[in-house]
Amino acid sequence: MTDKKIYSASTTAPVNIAVVKYWGKRSVKLNLPTNSSLSVTLSQADLKTHTTAACSSTFTENSLWLNGEAQDVSGARQTACFRELKALRKKLEDANPSLPKMSEYYVHVVSENNFPTAAGLASSAAGFAALVRAIADLYELPESPTELSKIARQGSGSACRSLFGGYVAWEMGQAVDGSDSYAVEVAPASHWPEMKAAILVVSAAKKSVSSTAGMQATVNTSALFTHRACDVVPKRMEAMKAAIENRDFEQFAAHTMADSNQFHAVCLDTTPPIFYMNDVSRAAIRAVEALNTHEGRVVGAYTFDAGPNAVIYYQEKDEEKILGFLGTLLAPEVAEWAGKYAKVTPEGYDNGSFEALKDGVSRVILTRVGEGPIRTHDSLIGADGLPR
Ligand code: DP6
Repeated sequence: MTDKKIYSASTTAPVNIAVVKYWGKRSVKLNLPTNSSLSVTLSQADLKTHTTAACSSTFTENSLWLNGEAQDVSGARQTACFRELKALRKKLEDANPSLPKMSEYYVHVVSENNFPTAAGLASSAAGFAALVRAIADLYELPESPTELSKIARQGSGSACRSLFGGYVAWEMGQAVDGSDSYAVEVAPASHWPEMKAAILVVSAAKKSVSSTAGMQATVNTSALFTHRACDVVPKRMEAMKAAIENRDFEQFAAHTMADSNQFHAVCLDTTPPIFYMNDVSRAAIRAVEALNTHEGRVVGAYTFDAGPNAVIYYQEKDEEKILGFLGTLLAPEVAEWAGKYAKVTPEGYDNGSFEALKDGVSRVILTRVGEGPIRTHDSLIGADGLPR
């Protein structure tokens, strides 16, 4: 009798925001980076991808639905993830012939983000981490998150870091086959739970250069890039790990801001130059610099990915200062918390920046360091094998 059962597993996975940025690939096919990177995993209470993976002998093709819409799964990145996970499942089945032959079945994946895709937040990291974790759970794979991170990496480089919570390094590795390019936990969220983040959502006028295309252009044309990858990042990785181990916010912040600025500098040093930050982003930088000067110590650290949104890391004890200041700067409908905190206006903060932030920030997401993927029984796939 043929097995017609629909097997399924569900998980949620987090977004991560790098404080030492991944920028540059030595292999596009395998997503192997030119430098190691380090990120903070953000709480899934605020940002997460929820994914259910199912397989059955009755399915006729691999399918993926994201936020209710069918997606193309024929791309090299998805194909690599499906292929590698199926190969691991096949090994289990070969060792134990009584297991259902899931490796021969097609897979259905249904994914939903709890944040608007339009916000321009890096959703591919959470998306591929959730896809890999959910299929690994479906197949009951014994592989560690570090082993699975090598598969998620092939979906999207930064996704490998979303298989862990807390503070996560992606060690670049040296091997040509990518076997030593994976994510490891630097410290769990519980080691430094006071870390918080305010994400200033800035609307981009036009679509920016994709990470993959941007990285390739930088690797091929920027002279500054070699200095960054070979001289700066190796030392910074060590300094950042030490800052996290010692919960030294001043060091953490100094390296976070310097690394974001250098990443955007190598983008500017690319031919043709790539601009991810805009006037609103630069106003946010001035704001954080002005607040730090006003306080006489570092209370906030900004960082920007391949887009104009600002992520400001701060410690819980400084929430009043950060939110008081942002409440002064941003439009009242954006800064809903503003009434709760005393206003802070650093002297010397220029009017132009004031205006840019008030007009340019459309939403703020307040979040904190959080956990890695979490298994759930909340299935997004119905008894017919399709999205509910
Ligand atoms: C600036 O992981 O999106 O956010 O590997 O091509 O999918 P691909 O790139 P992606 O790049 C992220 C770049 C970054 C820095 C970072 O997250 O480390």
